[in-house]
Amino acid sequence: VTMLDDLDIAGKTVLVRVDFNVPMKDGKVTDATRIQRGARTIRELMDKGARVVLLSHFGRPKGQRVPEMSLRPIVEPLRAALGGAEVAFAEDCIGPAAEQVVAGLQPGQVALLENLRFHAEEEKGDEAFAAKLAALGDVYVNDAFSAAHRAHASVSALARLLPSAAGRLMQEELEHLEQALENPARPLMAVVGGAKVSTKLDLLANLVAKVDVLVIGGGMANTFLHAVGQEVGASLCERDMADTARDIMRRAQESGCDVVLPTDVVVAGKLAEGVETKTVSVKEVPGDMMILDLGPASAEHLARRLEDCRALVWNGPLGAFETPPFDAATNHVARKAAEMTASGRLLSVAGGGDTVAALTNAGVLESFSYVSSAGGAFLEWLEGKELPGVAALRAG
Ligand code: 3PG
Repeated sequence: VTMLDDLDIAGKTVLVRVDFNVPMKDGKVTDATRIQRGARTIRELMDKGARVVLLSHFGRPKGQRVPEMSLRPIVEPLRAALGGAEVAFAEDCIGPAAEQVVAGLQPGQVALLENLRFHAEEEKGDEAFAAKLAALGDVYVNDAFSAAHRAHASVSALARLLPSAAGRLMQEELEHLEQALENPARPLMAVVGGAKVSTKLDLLANLVAKVDVLVIGGGMANTFLHAVGQEVGASLCERDMADTARDIMRRAQESGCDVVLPTDVVVAGKLAEGVETKTVSVKEVPGDMMILDLGPASAEHLARRLEDCRALVWNGPLGAFETPPFDAATNHVARKAAEMTASGRLLSVAGGGDTVAALTNAGVLESFSYVSSAGGAFLEWLEGKELPGVAALRAG
């Protein structure tokens, strides 16, 4: 992959694909993390005297000009993230509106163009649309790792039309994920949680071939417990995935990966705050109750197993962490990882939407070695897939 250092940018107009698809409520950005993390590349380009033109999607407007999905509310938080620098805004990402704003830029100035997905051609990966974007600048920088799994016009086609490179956030993501999964210190543990096995099949298949210990938590652990003959009562469970779960465990065994399932669990009659809970062995889950978290013995066992590991990749919570006390196991293991990371004994990498929320809830988000800005793209990376946005930079 070509990096920013290899690209001549002084005096150039640089098109930067960012991912400003941030949480927003009533026209206000509620979490500016992605904007702040994208600011570094923008700042660097400004300092090098480039004219910086920012391209992003927002939401899924399906080719329509949906006013609630305008990128205009990004201008203020972006200005703040850039230390107060003026940010010009263009009402469209192509055509006269975009051309005019770009033409008005001085070296070191920045403009944000309106939502790429207001044009249906963006998601189709349309070449002619990419050419219209390319006409606005001299070089292309992709800093949107979190959108790199989409073969959209601004992500892949555009990279092939201009000299192109990875931005700093993209570079950082690639380096950390490679360090964690392709070239890790060992033993390497993966923690995979979340509701369903069916959405993480490719991910599990890839991980059993690469990691030394695979911890399965969350709702999908119930499916695995069911697959090995345990009763899971009223728990969330994909009974039709039992064969698949057994197949994953067989593959794990073949490649020397140790799959760790819970031995005790916390159960309740329903998922609600303040409900009566019980901790039981996985052999004694009452028929009318559901599993909502790993039990304390399982959580402590994971913390001990982690002690022997040198790298950790984490995706998905271990329990129904949004509803305390079902965040206990996630918190326990996450805090152990944070403590080991702080003392230099562990490289810890996490990603995926729910994961960030779960680690934030545990109070350890800042203590991990690296937390990816990506949701879906992080999952596809864990599946071992080549992301179109990354592949396009390789070709360039
Ligand atoms: C994300 O938020 O994960 C990316 O911006 C991709 O968004 P999408 O799933 O709408 O393509």
